[in-house]
Amino acid sequence: MQNLLTILADGEIHSGQDLADKQGVSRTAVWKQVRAVADLGVDVERVRGLGYRVPGGLDLLDQRLIERGLQHDARALLAGLEIYTSIDSTNLELQRRNIEASGATVCLAESQTAGRGRRGRAWQSPFASSIYMSVAWKFHGGATAFGGLSLMLGVVVSQALDALGVDGVGLKWPNDVLRHGRKLAGVLVEISGDVTGPCTVIMGIGINVAVPKEAARQIDQPWSDLSELRTAGTSRNQIVAQVLNRLLPALAVYEEQGFANWSEPWHALHVYQDQPVLIRSAEQVTTGIARGVDEQGALLLETPQGVQRMHGGEVSLRPVS
Ligand code: BTN
Repeated sequence: MQNLLTILADGEIHSGQDLADKQGVSRTAVWKQVRAVADLGVDVERVRGLGYRVPGGLDLLDQRLIERGLQHDARALLAGLEIYTSIDSTNLELQRRNIEASGATVCLAESQTAGRGRRGRAWQSPFASSIYMSVAWKFHGGATAFGGLSLMLGVVVSQALDALGVDGVGLKWPNDVLRHGRKLAGVLVEISGDVTGPCTVIMGIGINVAVPKEAARQIDQPWSDLSELRTAGTSRNQIVAQVLNRLLPALAVYEEQGFANWSEPWHALHVYQDQPVLIRSAEQVTTGIARGVDEQGALLLETPQGVQRMHGGEVSLRPVS
């Protein structure tokens, strides 16, 4: 099926016979593959008497291209990179592994059948339209140091997108990447193993690239994507490489020094800095002025009772107008 996807990715019409010959399989096998590809949510058009095509083509992930886009320091920190055509969730896949390697183990998927967002939400993961990436990293100092990690990830993703020429990128505490105030990317950090000792942290990153209309209808919040990058010919492989080029060296520094290095850029990107906001958790709603974050990544919320430290996890922030 992967071969068929690669052939159809050019958006041109390919006859059934041509598809069979190119792969050394029967026409019946091609027909079955076409059905399997359509089941992934790919729009395979049958052009009567001529063959099959995917209108607009496909921007497929390619391990070689991603690795070719990596700079020396990022490449040196990469323990492994795998791409799945379809998987339940890249975060879940890394949680199922017993990761012993030092450095980063990266898992990418063209689509997720059970993509997960923060606070129990689903993360829409249509085929080859966005980036679904998880990175596992073994930390040796225990989980106490992870408060600022998801904030650092937000900074790194924002900086990578900025380097690709994406305008209007900002951050909403704890770790939403916004574009002109609408959600462009999200981060889901999960810890596997003993949080008091060496443990593996799985960092899931979802970036909307060219969200198809169908999937867009399922997104339950204002969202944004990078469709103009796709139109301009920037591939998802280039976006992934840009993020990894920043993220992997950043993880090595974070492990040694914590959030301090990202505090300044985080504040510069924070769209609700010094603005009235509302913080909602399962138990309560608190309003105040967002005064930034401390070195643990907690939000400093100025309330009439004084400054309260709000911790990430299962809370959400909304501006108050
Ligand atoms: C959020 O709600 O903002 C976090 C979204 C995180 C989505 C990514 S996509 C790759 C990884 N796999 C998942 O199931 N979720 C994360």
